[in-house]
Amino acid sequence: MTDGFGRTIDYLRISVTDKCNLRCRYCMPREGIALIPHRELLTLEEVYRVVRIMAGMGICKVRITGGEPLVRKNVTKLIKDIHGLPGMEEIAMTTNGVLLGEQVEELKAAGLTGVNISLDTLHPQTFERITGFDRHGQVMEAVEKVLEQGMKLKINCVPCRGLNDTELTELASLAKERPVDIRYIELMPVGCGRDFEGIPSHEILAGLEACYGKAQLSEEKRGNGPARYYDFPGFCGKVGFISPISHKFCGECNRVRLTAEGRLKLCLHYDRGLELKPLLRGGATDGDIRHEVEEALQKKPKEHDFEHIGEREGSEKRKMVQIGG
Ligand code: GTP
Ligand code: 5AD
Ligand code: SF4
Repeated sequence: MTDGFGRTIDYLRISVTDKCNLRCRYCMPREGIALIPHRELLTLEEVYRVVRIMAGMGICKVRITGGEPLVRKNVTKLIKDIHGLPGMEEIAMTTNGVLLGEQVEELKAAGLTGVNISLDTLHPQTFERITGFDRHGQVMEAVEKVLEQGMKLKINCVPCRGLNDTELTELASLAKERPVDIRYIELMPVGCGRDFEGIPSHEILAGLEACYGKAQLSEEKRGNGPARYYDFPGFCGKVGFISPISHKFCGECNRVRLTAEGRLKLCLHYDRGLELKPLLRGGATDGDIRHEVEEALQKKPKEHDFEHIGEREGSEKRKMVQIGG
């Protein structure tokens, strides 16, 4: 399926919960957020129905996000069901990794094809300062378990001045030694992200090259996201940059999002979208839903305007934890 600008949309990001077991400062306030009441969350059966309908329209890649997706019960069953849909090529997950080690085998057996783990530092104390919890060891164990299972693994790091800026070069040593990709993401001014200062990708690349030698831009396509990858001499994994601020990639956008309360969200920047829950709970047929999704896609915004997020009408007001990235 294509949107109003002719972009092919084949990737659906599904947020299954707005809960999280960490409190990363750029994502979520320490005191937490007002959670969606249980009855307002889509059931996993409703989520599956949306994916089934959209798979019939061309969605072939799915990513499960949160909050933290692994705090929701029965996510494994959802993955298994999605795995059974004809034409489904990839089912990945973005997780903070805390609960991943204990579930990775069953997730793989259910059909999960890849995992992105959010990890901003190799230092337990910095981890605790950023996330509010002493869980660094558990995340590092999950990294090893995912590798043991031979699954595709990427590490997501959000560089922030004053939080992890002195440890960014060291983090890339993981990609030197292990077959994992490390990706540095420019902080987006969404929710708590507005209270911190991100670091442009070129600055990080320069720091990495000073330490590890000259990097080559990689031609190989990895993942379905907007990351640009580099090869460093002697590294097992690649180093990627997701640069929504310094290199807008909206022209190649291939995705829409399903929020935990059932909105088909058309762009990360904007809160606009199609409310699917009233349709799902109001007796709409698959055909009705398909028609509504097709119409909504024609309204997908051309691009984000993060520079003016405070002034733009319809800008997202929720925190990143409620969107899933
Ligand atoms: P891969 O297929 O593994 O490359 O996945 P991905 O990069 O799409 O997924 P992930 O959940 O790991 O997201 C990494 C970062 O990219 C997060 O900070 C997301 O918020 C950001 N991101 C994902 N999709 C978009 C998007 O459409 N627009 C913008 N601006 N950022 C996005
Ligand atoms: N800007 C960029 N990335 C963010 N993430 C959370 N908040 C922000 C933000 N403001 C990242 C998380 C996770 C992914 C889903 O989004 O670290 O890796
Ligand atoms: Fe939780 Fe991920 Fe947000 Fe951290 S970035 S608080 S792990 S949702």
